[in-house]
Amino acid sequence: MSNKMHVNLNVNGEDHEFLAEPRELLIYALREKLNITGPHVGCETSHCGACTVTMNGKSVKSCTVFVAQANGAHVTTIEGLGNPDALHVLQENFKEHHGLQCGYCTPGMITRAAKLLEENPNPTEADVRFGIAGNICRCTGYQNIVKSILSAASEMNAAKEAAQ
Ligand code: FES
Ligand code: FES
Repeated sequence: MSNKMHVNLNVNGEDHEFLAEPRELLIYALREKLNITGPHVGCETSHCGACTVTMNGKSVKSCTVFVAQANGAHVTTIEGLGNPDALHVLQENFKEHHGLQCGYCTPGMITRAAKLLEENPNPTEADVRFGIAGNICRCTGYQNIVKSILSAASEMNAAKEAAQ
């Protein structure tokens, strides 16, 4: 008897249906079933945030969501924010301000930062640091990540003003 369930997920605007054990974690469904390998696994204790995605409008650590809980959800990963030919303003700014080294935390960090800037388009440095407190980086010391996010925020605000 199979204990697998049908799971429907919309990831980065594309619908997917697959079979999964209910206990399977969302991060492994994304990486191993759908080949969306931007979100990473950095811990087993829900601390590092390398697995951060946006699920139904919230930043979530996909290592701590069962695929059963995600059934029917809309998920955005780093792959849905931009691509090498059309970078998201955060991706551009991480590149510009050296907000990454090994790149392992970066997909989670940028996905979190994108949601943070939606929640608070005019963050202070302290707001940014607090807003990414769920995302650990072992390479950068955070300083350039904060710079990248603040610079992306001003660019996004300037673009908004120009469009008005
Ligand atoms: S893998 Fe570390 S919080 Fe998800
Ligand atoms: S860039 Fe290496 S962990 Fe953040």
